[in-house]
Amino acid sequence: MTRVIISSAKMQAICNDIRRSRKGTIGFVPTMGFLHEGHLSLMRKARNENDKVVVSIFVNPTQFGPKEDFKKYPRNFARDKQLCKKENIDFIFCPKEEDIYQRHHSTTVSVDGLTECLCGKSRPGHFCGVTTIVAKLFNIVSPDTAYFGQKDFQQTVVIKQMVKDLNFSTKIKVLPTIREKDGLAMSSRNSYLLSEERKDALVLYETLQMLKRKIKKGITNTKFLKKIAYKNIESKKTAKVDYIEIVDLCNLKSLKKIATKALIALAVKIGRVRLIDNIIVSAR
Ligand code: PAJ
Repeated sequence: MTRVIISSAKMQAICNDIRRSRKGTIGFVPTMGFLHEGHLSLMRKARNENDKVVVSIFVNPTQFGPKEDFKKYPRNFARDKQLCKKENIDFIFCPKEEDIYQRHHSTTVSVDGLTECLCGKSRPGHFCGVTTIVAKLFNIVSPDTAYFGQKDFQQTVVIKQMVKDLNFSTKIKVLPTIREKDGLAMSSRNSYLLSEERKDALVLYETLQMLKRKIKKGITNTKFLKKIAYKNIESKKTAKVDYIEIVDLCNLKSLKKIATKALIALAVKIGRVRLIDNIIVSAR
């Protein structure tokens, strides 16, 4: 049975009881809802590996910038609930904003060093919003393991750092990006794309694949790789590059040359929709 829990105090009491009465492990999948196969892959893994599974659905206002899409972020709780039921999720935690951010809420969690680059550059404050909500959710749910997608690679690095620095006992697992048949990374924001934009959106994954092939052929100069990527993306009418970066997998610092493994990450505006994608590559 899938139970819907709205109150954070109740959710915390339930999870504390599971712990105290040794009812087994808690797996946790934090989401902002409008669930797709990417979310479902995390839920299935959590279901396989744990006795109890909590999925949170909370469109977190503090991780959206003032000009971003918080208000129109897609929401469909009825559908999300059906999907959670189908995946045999024990608890859907969907708190109200006033419960999570009560009057005079004045504590934030911020991770320095890893949050100023890539998405942090064009979305100042975004990661502080993410780490604050994830820390709060971890304290409410006290999960043994929490599941995140590689699609948001920087988010996973930042959260792992937070968990280490603040001595959370939750284990972080990162699962591969789930894609549409044509390669587009699944995202709740894909629902914004108009039909021509949907076609142009393929350029993100195609560009990443093109770079991978170049690297396999022995091209490792990142300035050159970024230049051809930029050109490829901006050849599409509706596409505008926010960033293309080739960085170290651990510290997210830009690399001049790819020596072993690297992350290629990009953010592109397709019309008014900002999409991100990434792949891990290795020099031959
Ligand atoms: P949201 O965008 O809803 O994503 C929830 C989780 O699903 C994240 O870990 C994300 O990386 C993962 N995910 C999204 N698309 C995916 C895909 N195509 N393949 C695999 N995993 C995918 O990320 C957030 O919400 C929020 O920042 C959150 C962590 C919930 C904090 O508010």
